[in-house]
Amino acid sequence: MAPLRVGLLGLGTVGGATAEVLRRNREEIRRRAGREIVLACACVRDPGRKRPVATDGIELVADSRAVVAAREIDVVVELMGGLSPARQWVLEALEHGKHVVTANKALIALHGDEIFAAARRRGVVVAFEAAVAGGIPIVKAIREGLAGNRIASLAGIINGTTNYILSAMGESRGGFADILAEAQRLGYAEADPRFDIEGTDAAHKLTILAAIAFGIPLRFDRVYREGIEGIAAEDIAYARELGYCVKHLGIARRSPEGIELRVHPTLVPRSHLLAGVCGAMNAVFLHGDALGANAYYGPGAGGAPTASAVVADLVDISRMMGGAPERQVPYLAFEPLEDIPVLDMERATTAYYLRLQAEDRPGVLSQVAGILGEFQISIEAVLQKEPASSAARVPVILLTQQVLEGRMDRALAKIRRLDAVSGDIARIRLETLA
Ligand code: NAP
Ligand code: HSE
Repeated sequence: MAPLRVGLLGLGTVGGATAEVLRRNREEIRRRAGREIVLACACVRDPGRKRPVATDGIELVADSRAVVAAREIDVVVELMGGLSPARQWVLEALEHGKHVVTANKALIALHGDEIFAAARRRGVVVAFEAAVAGGIPIVKAIREGLAGNRIASLAGIINGTTNYILSAMGESRGGFADILAEAQRLGYAEADPRFDIEGTDAAHKLTILAAIAFGIPLRFDRVYREGIEGIAAEDIAYARELGYCVKHLGIARRSPEGIELRVHPTLVPRSHLLAGVCGAMNAVFLHGDALGANAYYGPGAGGAPTASAVVADLVDISRMMGGAPERQVPYLAFEPLEDIPVLDMERATTAYYLRLQAEDRPGVLSQVAGILGEFQISIEAVLQKEPASSAARVPVILLTQQVLEGRMDRALAKIRRLDAVSGDIARIRLETLA
């Protein structure tokens, strides 16, 4: 069979690793794909710059059109990142009848509808395994392995950079800025790391996961999003004392009223498997009605793990070519099955960790407990620390049982007005993930 000829848009962390994996595992890939996969050309900003990967045999160009419109190219792999010009080049590649592989979760989450419609019109596929959870084949697992299940919920660590930072903070390995710089050096972070830190990257991935798992349209605009900027080292330490660790989770949960879509820092019991997912590793837990609880774990960021997913998509496309593309699962992945409403965050239900600064005198704790009781919020545990010798206020940590977010908002507004409570109240959601 004629080789599958591939053109890359981007030869950075993921593009370079993809070139390297295709070169290193050429024989095995050829056997699995049924034909050779040849990396013919790559578009970069600066073709003259020396690259850390071998580029012999790859034509380096600065003009993306030379890749997306090239007659001899079968598949365009978009690894430049960002929305513009990536969106334009992907659409142009599809118009030229090329299959597309992308690791760009922002692009799929925000412009997936337009992109999949264009692919459908042209009878080609858009594959995106690398866009979610790095190298873990989670898209394939949900789409294929769990195809017989009605999925009730999924919860996962789906951003490697924030998990790397929270893990390092938990081990007291330096300050936030230093740890982030380390994650950037290791190739985990987005070009603009605020996408990681502020939870946007995880929200992109949750949008995609929820669309595949529940068959709903891509609803990035409806994902509640909180990052890790507000997490203090002391909260990680208190959480540990109470038997929890702090993880940044993406959660999608079906309820009779609709679907919760949220990404935020979360207390997770230390006995739960997710608590052991450290560094840049990712993990996704799902509940399917037939299979029950099931979990997927692996490297969630970095060049080689992501390249593993990109190459798997290329092999799938190679296997598919010759068959009818509209019968292929990746092509159908965003054909929404149901338009279930996504719930406003105030209608989400979760337990909470609260840390407040309260005056160290009798009766204060009962005022706080009284307000929580007024809103039917049950307290699960209380931890009050000794005051520093000169401090008039002490940290009080409370764990609550599950409650509607909106009710907790109202209770906290009232607690903030107490004279005996001052400063910000730290609030981290808590999930037992049972
Ligand atoms: P990167 O290291 O910054 O590489 C980007 C590449 O694209 C570079 O080769 C750059 O050229 C090229 N490029 C960027 N803008 C361009 C333009 N306008 N015209 C031509 N070339 C352009 O990024 P990355 O980390 O590989 O990430 C690529 C994509 O994969 C992103 O969508 C990211 O979200 C996704 N992703 C990354 C990871 C990860 O762990 N890094 C994991 C999963 C998914 P130069 O080399 O000349 O600068
Ligand atoms: N910046 C992303 C992360 C890359 O840290 O998870 C993988 O998608």
